[in-house]
Amino acid sequence: MPSLLEELKEIEVAARSQLAEARDDAALEEWRIAYLGRRGRLTLVLRALASLPLEERRKVGAEANRLKEALGAALAQRQAQLEEARLTAVMERGRLDVTLPGRPRAQGRLHPVTQTLRDVLHCFESMGFQVVEGPEVEWDRYNFEALRIPRDHPARDMWATLWVDYEKDGERSMLLRTHTSPNQVRYMEGHQPPIRIVVPGRVYRFEATDPIHDWMHTQVEGLAVDEGISMADLKGTLAEFVRRIFGADRKMFFHCDYFPFTEPSMGLLIDCVVCNGEGRLRDGQGCSTCKETGWIEVLGSGMVHPEILANVGYDAERYTGFAWGMGIERIAMLRYGVEDVRLFYQNDLRLLEQF
Ligand code: PHE
Repeated sequence: MPSLLEELKEIEVAARSQLAEARDDAALEEWRIAYLGRRGRLTLVLRALASLPLEERRKVGAEANRLKEALGAALAQRQAQLEEARLTAVMERGRLDVTLPGRPRAQGRLHPVTQTLRDVLHCFESMGFQVVEGPEVEWDRYNFEALRIPRDHPARDMWATLWVDYEKDGERSMLLRTHTSPNQVRYMEGHQPPIRIVVPGRVYRFEATDPIHDWMHTQVEGLAVDEGISMADLKGTLAEFVRRIFGADRKMFFHCDYFPFTEPSMGLLIDCVVCNGEGRLRDGQGCSTCKETGWIEVLGSGMVHPEILANVGYDAERYTGFAWGMGIERIAMLRYGVEDVRLFYQNDLRLLEQF
């Protein structure tokens, strides 16, 4: 049987080498219980001291106590070591590499229709027009009646209407406005000439969609009323618009048209931006954008019907005016060469990021 002193030596060697292997708190605790716990190896030796003769008890006792303290200190040191290693690992992991290139921040941009709308409004603002707005849900009276489009008049067929489920005097009387023209009357009712306004806004039609028609589009209405306003003013103003938005090289012409609220009425056409007015593409194919005519209609216009001026209380002998309404999507299509209006509202970044 080995002496207790030898056993202490052996305990020390085993304890120290095992401690060096401990990698975490659980291993440390296991180690502590194995050597210093109530049934630990060193504890058992200390207990056995009582049965030794005095001389030997002193010698072994001193050694056992030294070992107890030494192991306690070794445990504390190993704990500190592991803690330090843990902190170092955390710092390594969290270290900033300042040479790493930054992540690009995704930046939005204005929708091509919004860009075009702003350019168009800016163009007219610089010619002295003021921007005003009106409601998208409109009364029948403003959208139709006051514009000389009475109930049962065939002119109503020009606009397939989205009615709102609301009746007044037993009749449907509210709708999603089919054009921005109701704002002509709305504005004139509350103001006296001289008037120069542009009215941007969305309009809605019960429409089967195709590449140039959608059930919703954006219009800009224009209205100028004053003494001595003539068709020359209308042509001059819109010619300047074409020059600024499409460039000085575009040809334009007015053709006769019909709107119940203007007399005379005219459509404004520009030569096709795709085939340059040829009606055919370079490879000889017919141009589908202008349907091979070489011309594209960009807006409807005319001299404000005198009856409308009289209805809002103006002296129609003294005042005259002109008005127009244009579709902004159509203008954006021509400007950016987009072939289908519906693409604008599909939220496809592959299209939108190009502008
Ligand atoms: N409101 C007409 C439309 O949609 C356009 C227009 C406005 C015509 C003003 C003449 C005068 O389609």
